[in-house]
Amino acid sequence: MVQRDLETLCDLDRAHLMHPISEFRKHEVKGPRVVVGGEGIWIEMADGRRVIDGFSGLFNINVGHGRHEIAEAVAQQMREVAYYPAFWDFSTESAIRLAERVVNLLPRDRRLNHLLFTSGGSDANEAAFRVARMYQAARGHPQRCKILSRRHAFHGITRAAGSATRIPAYHALASVDPAHIECAAPYCLRCEFDAKPADCELSCVQDVVEVIEREGADTIAAMIVEPVMGTGGIIIPPAHYFGRLQEVCREHEILLIFDEVITGFGRTGCWFGMEHWDARPDIAAFAKGITSGYLPLGGIAVADFVYQTIRDQSPPGLPFMFGLTYNNHPTACAAALANLEIVEREGLVANARVVGEYLRERLSAGLDGHPYVADIRGLGMMIAIECSEPGGLLPVAGRPMAFPAKIASRCYQRDLIVRALWETVALAPPLCTTQCEADRIAEVVIEAFSSEV
Ligand SMILES: Cc1ncc(COP(=O)(O)O)c(C=O)c1O
Repeated sequence: MVQRDLETLCDLDRAHLMHPISEFRKHEVKGPRVVVGGEGIWIEMADGRRVIDGFSGLFNINVGHGRHEIAEAVAQQMREVAYYPAFWDFSTESAIRLAERVVNLLPRDRRLNHLLFTSGGSDANEAAFRVARMYQAARGHPQRCKILSRRHAFHGITRAAGSATRIPAYHALASVDPAHIECAAPYCLRCEFDAKPADCELSCVQDVVEVIEREGADTIAAMIVEPVMGTGGIIIPPAHYFGRLQEVCREHEILLIFDEVITGFGRTGCWFGMEHWDARPDIAAFAKGITSGYLPLGGIAVADFVYQTIRDQSPPGLPFMFGLTYNNHPTACAAALANLEIVEREGLVANARVVGEYLRERLSAGLDGHPYVADIRGLGMMIAIECSEPGGLLPVAGRPMAFPAKIASRCYQRDLIVRALWETVALAPPLCTTQCEADRIAEVVIEAFSSEV
């Protein structure tokens, strides 16, 4: 790009564009980093720099950049029918085929057979909450409307999804809906109950039991959980956590919603995060990896019994009172079909497992004994390096800690994007990352940490 054009673009950005998670005043001074291209795990900046996308955009560019076959599938769909609403009984072939594809990728014994596509993850969770409340009302419990979620959770930013999000910074200037109730999280490194993994009795699940007793089970519609908490810092629950949690939910007739927005479609080395724990959610929400970000799309998969209850027990003549203009969008569904074809053909789920583990091992070996590293953990292509002060763990402040941000900025100077998430440096490269590329990522991260010893 010609330098003068770039300067004009940057001025226009400063004047007119608001950027998520940016400080407006700083942005007006610094201006944007303009991305102009991408191929595989690399992106190209307007100044000609090539940078490794070590966070897959926002945990979502699973197949990597520059996949022309997705562009072709989208163009083809647009030529046929770009869009038509899914309201009433209208449908399109790409939405029907995608629903079937996703149903078959989900573990079949979960019976998550009923799909509704949305525009992204936040509205997928909004849809999940609405369906959960409809289910409870249809079976005669309209007062069951509260939603439980966990500390450090991120479920999106719209009103209900944003209220289920329990990261304090998001609520500093925006109140939480009181129908959303917070429980403990399975954050083993910083266990709220001071348990060590060897003597863990799942006090975090006991906390959910106590919250249910305090609030009254007959006021609660559902509980929402991320299989691996992403934005909260890549927090991985212990082996028996979901088994016990789902027993508690079943016992109290509370629906369990799995937010697979990050973990769905291969990121953790299984098609869905639920598979690692053999968990059985009643509703699963997804987004991001379904299209690898080539077009916006999310959705929910609803268990047979939930769907059938709404179908058979709603007041006679009352239709399913939910509808987004872009539900089941045919062009976004065509992008998803082409994307999933690549994931399957190239074996990217297995690659995420193998290369993710390799990268984690490389980082563990290279950062072993580093005074600022408290923990290195991960599942597939979700990896966290949790930082500490040499004197010990800092308390979770719910706001960015300076050190991980410093590491992220050093990595960027060395042409690698990683993300500072509170106390952690987080990595989530595309699922197509090769072992050789993982070596380069590890090298840059270790180098960035080593200037601190
Ligand atoms: C687990 C989880 N749920 C929901 C969302 C919201 O998705 P979207 O940004 O597409 O609305 C996100 C976004 O990062 C997420 O990580």
